Amino acid sequence: MSDWATYQKSVIRYPEIGFTLDTSRMDAPSEWPEEMQEKIERAFRDRASIEAGEIMNPDEGRAVGHYWLRNPDLAPDEEGAWIRDVKAKVEDLAGKILRGEIKAPNDRAFRHILLIGIGGSALGPQLVEKALLPPNPPVDIHFFDNTDPGGMSDTFAELGAGLAETLVIVISKSGGTAETRNGMLEAEAAFAARELAFPKYAVAVTGEGSKLDKYAEENGWIARIPMSDWIGGRTSVMSAVGLLPAALLGLNIDRFLAGAAAMDERTRVDSVEENASMQLALMWHHAGNGAGEKDMVILPYSDRLDLMSKYLQQLVMESLGKEHDLDGNVVNQGIAVYGNKGSTDQHAYVQQLRDGLRNFFATFIEVRTTGKAGAMPVDDLGSTTGDYLQGFLRGTRNALYESGRLSMTISLEELNAFTLGSLIALYERAVSFYASLVNINAYHQPGVEAGKKAAGEFLDLLNRVKNHLAETGSSGVTAETMAQNIGETDVEAVYHCLNHLAASGFCKREDGESVGEDVFAC
Ligand code: PA5
Repeated sequence: MSDWATYQKSVIRYPEIGFTLDTSRMDAPSEWPEEMQEKIERAFRDRASIEAGEIMNPDEGRAVGHYWLRNPDLAPDEEGAWIRDVKAKVEDLAGKILRGEIKAPNDRAFRHILLIGIGGSALGPQLVEKALLPPNPPVDIHFFDNTDPGGMSDTFAELGAGLAETLVIVISKSGGTAETRNGMLEAEAAFAARELAFPKYAVAVTGEGSKLDKYAEENGWIARIPMSDWIGGRTSVMSAVGLLPAALLGLNIDRFLAGAAAMDERTRVDSVEENASMQLALMWHHAGNGAGEKDMVILPYSDRLDLMSKYLQQLVMESLGKEHDLDGNVVNQGIAVYGNKGSTDQHAYVQQLRDGLRNFFATFIEVRTTGKAGAMPVDDLGSTTGDYLQGFLRGTRNALYESGRLSMTISLEELNAFTLGSLIALYERAVSFYASLVNINAYHQPGVEAGKKAAGEFLDLLNRVKNHLAETGSSGVTAETMAQNIGETDVEAVYHCLNHLAASGFCKREDGESVGEDVFAC
């Protein structure tokens, strides 16, 4: 079949969304084998079960409710009422802040937002801000999405005297995440250092009754907006987590939700040919043999979408990267996701994509209507910068295919709140379908929880080392001696504790011939 014929057969278009998916360069079979058909049918059944509110996250005993957020009519009565109520709270709070009815204590309108959250409690707002920020937004937004004191200091420096007009939104579904708590405590201290009463600047988005919720209530914060346990962190951008910052930035949250609802409607159809999310999931399965053997490279040819790959990295890898399947077998599933943007990446790793390892498939994302800058001819042919962007995308797609590298292309007619909502919904559903195809739970994150526990063990050791050093450290110790003194067998971990204490000024390190001979003294 000619490329043109293949192309025409491989395109799904949703004109009311301004969306096209082209899978012609994926070399997928024209018919899926019977074994696959059964998995597809199961994935369609799971879709219905998810939307009906069945417990589809069995490990945590939870329903999976993110599809309800943009269509509360689908949800059971109680959840539907909750979704509407939370949205009304978000709109009320954002409206009061934007109209200056809730002001900073210096009687000026809030001009800045400091959003403190991590993972699913930060990535969505970051993507939305980058993709959609209008010119002259009512407020600007800054993030603490880590426990890096360097990053926090930089943000405080950017805010400067503006701290007095900064609304702090602390987002944590669990209300107990260490990085977020640390960021909140640092912010509280920074406000206190300027004699600013933190509660008058602070809003919490968190599960009802969580540690953060109680803290915000006891201290009289401006507002507390609830999160629910049937909304996953990485699928929370259409809950208050994403809607509150978006509304404060002056974005149209109704259009954002409507775009997602429109895509959900299209991907609710039990037809492989018509369902773009099922097509994506099948292409991932086909490319990686149902075992994640190929990495997913996300290449939006759009500066505003450069966080899409980071966002999808979390959505896909935290959802699909699982040790066990639903029957308890060890499967070590997942798909590695990376990317940034085109054509920029053509001057970086695209070299390897074209000529190096064949361990990936690419997804190009184009935005057909781009900004006004770009009408001017920039060469003798009269080509514009936008022509070049399109040329680079098409050229790279062809070059990859000619050298046997597979790709898909997603086209958005425009980038706006509606189409961004639809794009996110497309991928959320694709992740759900893929999880069904490979029989895993996409809605829990045991590895994240394990990481949180491991950090706790290190912090415990750090404090034991610190206390011992404070009592006895004046004469100086090596890591091995310190480990013996405190009864710890992991000498390397003790060395890292001592090194960290030296770097933070608690003690001094005298370098020996080898790390084992380094001596630490208070
Ligand atoms: O997707 C997830 O579940 C995680 O990335 C969480 O969003 C992240 O760990 C932050 O959790 P929390 O919102 O409870 O602070």
